[in-house]
Amino acid sequence: MMDKLQNYIDGEWVDGAQWIERQNPSDLSDCIGVYAQSSSHDVNSAVQAAKIAQMAWAGVSPQERSEILLDIAASILGRQEEIAHILSREEGKTLPESRGEVGFSASVFKYFSGEALRLNGHAGRSIRTGVDVEVLHEPLGVVGMITPWNFPFLMPAWKAAPALAYGNSIILKPSEFTNGSAHILTQIMVDSGLPANVFQLVMGGGPEVGQSLCGHPDVNGISFTGSVPTGNKIAATVSPDKHLQMEMGGKNPLIVMADANLGAAVDAALRGAFHATGQRCTASSKLIVEQSVHDEFVAMLKEKAQALRVGHALSDSTEVGPLVNAAQLAGVERYMEIAKQEGAEFLLGGSRVACETEGHYFAPTILLAPFNAMRINREEIFGPVATVISVASFEEALKVANDTEFGLSASIYTQSLKHAVAFKHGSTAGMVQVNLPTFGGDYHVPFGGRGMSGSGSRELGAYAREFYTTVKTAYTAI
Ligand code: NAI
Repeated sequence: MMDKLQNYIDGEWVDGAQWIERQNPSDLSDCIGVYAQSSSHDVNSAVQAAKIAQMAWAGVSPQERSEILLDIAASILGRQEEIAHILSREEGKTLPESRGEVGFSASVFKYFSGEALRLNGHAGRSIRTGVDVEVLHEPLGVVGMITPWNFPFLMPAWKAAPALAYGNSIILKPSEFTNGSAHILTQIMVDSGLPANVFQLVMGGGPEVGQSLCGHPDVNGISFTGSVPTGNKIAATVSPDKHLQMEMGGKNPLIVMADANLGAAVDAALRGAFHATGQRCTASSKLIVEQSVHDEFVAMLKEKAQALRVGHALSDSTEVGPLVNAAQLAGVERYMEIAKQEGAEFLLGGSRVACETEGHYFAPTILLAPFNAMRINREEIFGPVATVISVASFEEALKVANDTEFGLSASIYTQSLKHAVAFKHGSTAGMVQVNLPTFGGDYHVPFGGRGMSGSGSRELGAYAREFYTTVKTAYTAI
C-alpha cells in the first residue's frame, strides 16, 4: 500500500479532505505518493497557528535563529540523495541536476544563517535638535509561499531561508504536481528545532488552496513563483496592504556574435535550452546568432543536440529527462503546431520520443524561426525547444533580445569588450550574463526579472530583506 503523505498544520501531521496520487513522469507505472489536499478551513487553521508562532519566533535571538538555519542546511545535505531521488522521480530532471538543486538549497540556508546575524537598521541624526532617529527592520509576519513544480525543492528553500532568518512564520503551498520534495523539506523543518508552527505545509490546488492563502486577511505577504497567468490572478487577489513578490516566466535570449568562442556558445545554448528538459525559467529558449556564423553555429548545435540521450530521470546515461506531466507535454506539442503554421523550419526534433518506460518524453528540438514576431519566439514554451534567429549586427541582436514582454535573463557570447559592455547596459532583462549561459546564478546577489517576468522586490542576497521585513522609523527625544 502506498504511503499517504499528510499536511503539517497547527503542530500536527493531518489528513486532507481529499487525496491525490502522483505518477513518475519517467515511468507512469511508478506511483510516487498519495498526498493530502487541503481545504480553505485548513488554510485558516494554519494561518491562526502561524500568527502565534511568528511572535515567538521573532523573539528568538539572532544567534539561535542562525544556528537553526545552519542545522537545516546540514539536514538537507544529510538527506541529499533521498531528496534528489524523489525530486527526479516527481519532476523528471536528471539525478545530477536534482543533486545540484538540493546542494544549492543547503547553501541558501547557510548564507541566510549569516544574514540572520546582520539584520541591522541604521541610526541617524534627526533634522531637529535633540532628537535621535532610527530605521528599524521588523519581521513581516505570516508569509504565504506559492511555488512551482520545476524547482520543487529549491523554490520553497530559497523563500523559506530568508523568511526564517528575518523572523517570519511560513505557510508553504507547493505545486500540486511535486508535493514529495516539499514534504521532505517540511519534515526537515519540523525536526529542526524551529518553534511549532513556524513552518506549515498546505498541499493542494492553486485555485482553492493558493487563492485562500492569497486572500486571507491575516497573511502579511505572498511570495509567488510561477507562470504569468497565475501571477495575474494572484495580483488581483492579494490586497494592496500586503507585501507581494512575484517571479514568473521568461523567454530568455542568448546572443552569439561572430567573434564568440563558438564551442562555448554552443555548450551554453545546449545546456540552456535542453538540460532540465527546458523546464527552467532561465532557459535560453531564443538563440540570436550573427549571420556570418549562423550556419556553423546551428550545425554544431544540431550535432550535439541530436546526441543528447533522452530517458528515465534516474538512469545514469540520461541527459534529458521527461516533461513533468501530460499537460506540459500537450502544451509543447501545441507549440509545434504553431511553429508549423508560422512557417518555422524544423532542424531537429519536434515530436515525442519513445523510451524503455512509458513517460512524457519529448525530443530536443531546434526551430529556425526568422521573425521575432512569431509566437514561438515570444511565448514561453517550457520544454526542450530552442528557436534560432539570424541577425546582421550587434545592434539588431540587442533590439531582438529586448523586443519581448519578458525580462528575466539574457546572455551574450562575444570577445568584444565594447559589445559586452553595451549589452550589459542595454539589455532590458533583470539579469545579464556575458560569456555565461542564461541560467545559473549566485545566492548572495539578487535574483529576478523585469517586465512580465517579475514584480515586487528581488529574491536572494541581502535584497531579500526588502520583502521579508517591514520598516519602522523611530524618533526619540533626548
Ligand atoms: P503555475 O503558475 O501553474 O503554478 C505555480 C503555483 O501557483 C502552483 O503552486 C499552483 O498551484 C499555484 N496556483 C495556480 N493557480 C493559482 C491561483 N489561482 N491562485 C493561487 N495560486 C495558484 O506555474 P508552474 O507551471 O507550476 O511553473 C512553471 C512556471 O513557473 C513557468 O512560467 C516558469 O517560468 C515559472 N518559474 C519562474 C521562476 C522565476 O524565478 N522567475 C522560477 C521557476 C519557475
